[in-house]
Amino acid sequence: MSTVVDLRSDTVTRPSAAMRRAMAEAEVGDDVYGDDPTVNALEAEVARMLGYDAGLFTPSGSLANQLALRLLVKPGEELVCDRIAHVVRAEMGAAAAFSGITTRTWDAVAGRLDPAAVAATITPNAGWHQVSTTAIAVENTHNFGGGTVQPMEAVRAVQELAREHGLGLHLDGARLWNAHVATGVPLLELAAGFDTVSVCLSKGLGAPVGSVLVSSAERIAEARTWRKRYGGAMRQVGILAAAGLYALEHNLERLSEDHERAARLAAALGQKPELTETNIVVLRVSDAPALWQAALDQGVITSAIGPNLLRLVTHLDIDDEALDRAIEVLSPLLTADGSSPHR
Ligand SMILES: Cc1ncc(COP(=O)(O)O)c(C=O)c1O
Repeated sequence: MSTVVDLRSDTVTRPSAAMRRAMAEAEVGDDVYGDDPTVNALEAEVARMLGYDAGLFTPSGSLANQLALRLLVKPGEELVCDRIAHVVRAEMGAAAAFSGITTRTWDAVAGRLDPAAVAATITPNAGWHQVSTTAIAVENTHNFGGGTVQPMEAVRAVQELAREHGLGLHLDGARLWNAHVATGVPLLELAAGFDTVSVCLSKGLGAPVGSVLVSSAERIAEARTWRKRYGGAMRQVGILAAAGLYALEHNLERLSEDHERAARLAAALGQKPELTETNIVVLRVSDAPALWQAALDQGVITSAIGPNLLRLVTHLDIDDEALDRAIEVLSPLLTADGSSPHR
């Protein structure tokens, strides 16, 4: 097989030599005692960047999301989110399995937030016969939607709706960094107005592990207890937090390069330009598994995220040469697939 170009996800990056040096040199302590200075610095830095009181380092974005949902929704109550949100589609039913949370979803084209759909879905204080909604989850940027940036007016309208009905509001901001770099809207504005916000350091930013949940000091103290219960409290984990701090300092602004490459890839594959807002390209094809296999046979790895949807993600380890190779392989395959790649 020729050289592998891995477009599966922005999680496949390997830590650079400089990041590994920062990890090796990190000052550490036992974080379960709150003694790890590097973890404390990372939690404080992310909380500061997003405008919240406190942060909690977690091994994964899924754990950060699930801790947030645990805090906002009691067992037997309901979380609402869109149909292809990561929290309901790709966290292995964790909200139900761990927290007894039921979910209902609204339909969203490309994952884009539609306040009218949210308003039509929620059932707060539903009485004795129906499940009451207690929280709403929003995803920005939207992964399975194709890296979609949520329009600020829609976010503010949903926040208003949540306030009006006393509902909790979680932001899955695994790729909030991409929304910031793509739009120039300050992180503080993108993150404002939620009860809890999760962000990832291991997607796009190039860290090997790690997410941070931010919220009020009181909620984060509660989340810390649940993180320990779930077995997610770690010891001298400053080694990993150092990678996160390095990533925030060195790899955030360069996300624009991933966005430019994704736009070039999308254009070369006949995608509508307005559908590629950040670093994710989702193509509608006739047979995603067949296309996935044919691309793999030529050294280009993609993700089939549905029978007719192929996802391509640009990242730190995809340079111009790798992108050119991907286009060279994928272009004829898409023509042979016979469907227009427009979604
Ligand atoms: C939007 C979104 N949220 C959460 C996660 C979960 O992150 P992790 O894989 O670290 O659990 C992902 C992972 O891709 C994601 O895309």
